[in-house]
Amino acid sequence: MISYVPYSDDLEVEQPDEQSKIADILRYLGIAHERAIAARRHAPGETHAKGHGVLKGTFTVEPELPEELAQSLFAAPGTYPAVLRFATEAGTLMDDREPAARGLAMKLIGVDGEKMAADGRLTQDFLCNNCPILPLAEVTTYREIARLRAEYGHDPAQLAAEIAKRDDADVQTLFERLPNIDLLAHSYYSQSAFRYGDYVCKYALMPNTEAQRALAARPVTDDDRPDVLSEWLAEFLADNDAGFDFCIQLLTDPETMPIEDASVEWDVGKSAWRRVGTLSLPAQNPFTPARRAFGDEVLGFDPWAGRPDLRPLGSINRVRKPAYRASSRRRHEYNDRAGFEPISIGDVPD
Ligand code: HEM
Repeated sequence: MISYVPYSDDLEVEQPDEQSKIADILRYLGIAHERAIAARRHAPGETHAKGHGVLKGTFTVEPELPEELAQSLFAAPGTYPAVLRFATEAGTLMDDREPAARGLAMKLIGVDGEKMAADGRLTQDFLCNNCPILPLAEVTTYREIARLRAEYGHDPAQLAAEIAKRDDADVQTLFERLPNIDLLAHSYYSQSAFRYGDYVCKYALMPNTEAQRALAARPVTDDDRPDVLSEWLAEFLADNDAGFDFCIQLLTDPETMPIEDASVEWDVGKSAWRRVGTLSLPAQNPFTPARRAFGDEVLGFDPWAGRPDLRPLGSINRVRKPAYRASSRRRHEYNDRAGFEPISIGDVPD
């Protein structure tokens, strides 16, 4: 019989010199962000600069879940309007023909109850990338990589040479070897651990229609255009619906499924992915000028925005708390454009 590890505050372990490493990481991120802003005279997010589309959908909590899955937001059946943004992970505007990590951020609207930030929001954010692990791992590794990016980010060849010298170069370059396929055909993962009510999980969004999964057979090639991913997304959604299963993997063994190291994939043999919700995306145009501008300039996602019983865990998530706020503040100030948190799905333009 599988036993699920109960959530407790002492599952998280502060890393050696964590506060000073977090301060260094924030300083390095600021250097890279300000360089990207100066190059464009426009401020994207510190990461996920290139948006590929903003989508509206409906999220339905799976009915009749067993006790270990019927937690937090998933404790009672319900439906929520959802807004999503697809983006490429880099902090610069990459050509879509280059393989890279792709992100999918989802915001549920109309979520009542206590929130981690007492800012009156009615939203719950979930942020994922299309790789089960995060090579940055924890604050010690991340500090080293953030320093290299701050120092050599203006010179991609030199940055690659510096990363190649590392013992973990294979892991640090993993995103460059991800399949370069249609955005609707990837699975997207939280990579890091989260509280899940009385338990602990990682979460993921997995494509749930045959037509989406079939898109994986068509990789991006050098003959495609630099913005092919937005074009394919708009083409498919012009006359097809799409959808994702929202799945979680519960923590069953803290030794081999660490919370404090996001570079370790949790073994599905020890704990399978299980569906707790479904996201339906009706046919729509995800890349109108109004949606693109809303996604790139106005909307913001933050793993620390939402319910305390879904709070992020581990040092890689502890550094995200100040990092998202600093990035958001910097881009909204520079672009002279206020951020805005949707209250209803009508706030998201068509
Ligand atoms: C742990 C796994 C992580 C995942 C799955 C993830 C995912 C994402 C996604 C999907 C976005 C784009 C949101 C959008 O479309 O607007 C994003 C943005 C961002 N991420 Fe992460 N991320 C992770 C780790 C980190 C870490 C370790 C940092 C740095 C401390 C970080 C810093 C940021 C920042 C600064 C933004 C832009 C925020 C803004 O300007 O509004 N992320 N992340």
